[in-house]
Amino acid sequence: MSKKPVFLVLGAGAGIGGNVAKKFAKEGYHAVLARRSDEDGLNKLVGDIKQGGDEATGRLVNAIEDGAIEDLIADVEKNIGPIEVFLFNLGAQFGDRTLEETPLKLFEMGWRLTSLALFRVAKTLAPIMEARGGGKILVTSATSAMRGNAGQHAHAAAIGGRRLLCQSLNAELSVKGIHICHIYIDAPIEAPDTIGKLLGPELYQKLLEERGNGKDMLVIPEKVAETYYHIAHQHRSAWTSEVDIRPYSEQPWWNN
Ligand SMILES: NC(=O)c1ccc[n+]([C@@H]2O[C@H](COP(=O)([O-])OP(=O)(O)OC[C@H]3O[C@@H](n4cnc5c(N)ncnc54)[C@H](OP(=O)(O)O)[C@@H]3O)[C@@H](O)[C@H]2O)c1
Repeated sequence: MSKKPVFLVLGAGAGIGGNVAKKFAKEGYHAVLARRSDEDGLNKLVGDIKQGGDEATGRLVNAIEDGAIEDLIADVEKNIGPIEVFLFNLGAQFGDRTLEETPLKLFEMGWRLTSLALFRVAKTLAPIMEARGGGKILVTSATSAMRGNAGQHAHAAAIGGRRLLCQSLNAELSVKGIHICHIYIDAPIEAPDTIGKLLGPELYQKLLEERGNGKDMLVIPEKVAETYYHIAHQHRSAWTSEVDIRPYSEQPWWNN
């Protein structure tokens, strides 16, 4: 068991998930990083945090398996400590696919990974947090939660529904001391494990050269981590339930 408050992120790659975990660990939390498949990547993120003198633990978990989310929460509560902040960082970006290229299974997978998985988190964790008098659930999201678009059928339906789930959860749980914030990132992120893999090495390198590398035209995860930390520490008289983030060079979604 840790003596520190616990921060748990589900979906911890080298982008948002890993960097927000690093920030919370630096600020005195025990960071628990859970991701699906990349054990070496997980060990590297956990090792980097520990090398900085902070506390971290890694877990390999496939969130869509039956019982996986429920078991993860029970395991962390029992073996590491009470979860004070939970970051739900799973997306469902399958790339642009026409209606014809979107099979029923993929559409369903998007919903399982995002809306249903967050519902499972809330069903398991909210009663525990409520019994303790409160907690925080932060949800990373994307532009498609705000508007549909060609090729985004599975993605937009999944995360648009999840946005409304956040609102419903907040309406019921805020009075019980549980703060839920839907944080939507309205631009590409420097995230080698998600957009990097979706694009492939050549296109991702091109994106970094055109918009990254000091140009600040991609969202930089360690900068975003400051916002996540701030939201989790707002006074209850001034909670944010939704926030948007984009680089200076981007037009907001409603302008393009
Ligand atoms: N990347 C972008 O350009 C972008 C833009 C706007 C919004 N977003 C949002 O940002 C969030 C993701 O942040 P990020 O892109 O910076 O990614 P990240 O934190 O670098 O990585 C996310 C991790 O989620 C893990 N994951 C995927 N499916 C999983 C499952 N079934 N069970 C457990 N873990 C799973 C993957 O682990 P493994 O690698 O081990 O499989 C992946 O590394 C999503 O909510 C997404 O919608 C991303």
